[in-house]
Amino acid sequence: MAFYSSSYPILLFSFVVTNSFIVAFAGNFNKDVDITWGDGRGKILNNGKLLTLSLDKASGSGFQSKNEYLYGKFDMQLKLVPNNSAGTVTAYYLKSPGSTWDEIDFEFLGNLSGDPYIVHTNVYTQGKGDREQQFYLWFDPTADFHTYSILWNPGQIIFYVDGKPIREFKNLEALGVAYPKNQTMRMYASLWNADDWATRGGLVKTDWSQAPFTASFRNFDAKACIWFNGSSSCSSNSTKNNQWFSQELDSSGQKKLKWVQQNYMVYNYCTDTKRFPQGLTQECTVTNKN
Ligand SMILES: *[C@@H]1O[C@H](CO)[C@@H](O)[C@H](O)[C@H]1NC(C)=O
Ligand SMILES: *[C@@H]1O[C@H](CO)[C@@H](O)[C@H](O)[C@H]1NC(C)=O
Ligand SMILES: *[C@@H]1O[C@H](CO)[C@@H](O)[C@H](O)[C@H]1NC(C)=O
Ligand SMILES: *[C@@H]1O[C@H](CO)[C@@H](O)[C@H](O)[C@H]1NC(C)=O
Ligand SMILES: *[C@@H]1O[C@H](CO)[C@@H](O)[C@H](O)[C@H]1NC(C)=O
Repeated sequence: MAFYSSSYPILLFSFVVTNSFIVAFAGNFNKDVDITWGDGRGKILNNGKLLTLSLDKASGSGFQSKNEYLYGKFDMQLKLVPNNSAGTVTAYYLKSPGSTWDEIDFEFLGNLSGDPYIVHTNVYTQGKGDREQQFYLWFDPTADFHTYSILWNPGQIIFYVDGKPIREFKNLEALGVAYPKNQTMRMYASLWNADDWATRGGLVKTDWSQAPFTASFRNFDAKACIWFNGSSSCSSNSTKNNQWFSQELDSSGQKKLKWVQQNYMVYNYCTDTKRFPQGLTQECTVTNKN
């Protein structure tokens, strides 16, 4: 077999080196996270490259990052619960502990087969949320893995789907709007039953005859300031020069954000005057409007 002729070992060697570099870069769930609940329903597979969460009538499941972060760019690839996922919610978010916590949320609200998922986003600062924005997607999120990213730096929080910005939350402390900046967060993910509200506002219930429901995760990548023993891995200047630390939307990014918001936005708290008759919150009057 000519394929195994003696001229190949060198090629093979360079492939192995390149490949192991990519694997190291992509992260390893065995090293990066702990499965924290679900009694065996969360599983790390393929030597740490794949993580699956499942949900049945008795329980959902979830995991969290071993590290705590103060700022970062967090990428995760998800393949959502296929077919009839109505009533289920797959969540991927950052959160700090305590009663005045900060939180940055992606939640994926399931639906009947063929009906669209909703991507539900929220930002909590010092325990205050009520900042929901929801979107449909421009692809079937159950057919393949797609990349969902949270950028969190001192200037803004940006939610991305496959590199396209879908939401921006600017630091408007100058206007008196609290911004997450002094509480470290972990990354969390979970799959749970929320059929009291998730699908068509709770009208469509989970069909337990379809259980177990399974969502898959891979390629978690945190380019982030890791908080350890009272100090940040970003205290050295070299890390602060990282691109993500000052990343913001340029005019082409703003255009993409508009495209998503004009074509795929389902709900925006910043335009819901019925819900907030006493007036929209401060950040809505200067930004985040559709
Ligand atoms: C789910 O849908 C896929 C096609 O999208 C199909 O191949 C598969 O059999 C379905 N599974 C169930 C359990 O219905
Ligand atoms: C974070 O900042 C807020 C307001 O700036 C303050 O109320 C809170 O106590 C701070 N928390 C910590 C842990 O420093
Ligand atoms: C589910 O499908 C219905 C009908 O197309 C749609 O109104 C709804 O927004 C979809 N998503 C969720 C999560 O309810
Ligand atoms: C944590 O920091 C303290 C001093 O700030 C130091 O004495 C201690 O050894 C550190 N612990 C670890 C595990 O690095
Ligand atoms: C690090 O940054 C500080 C200010 O942020 C600056 O004063 C200092 O010169 C920088 N050090 C290096 C080695 O660049």
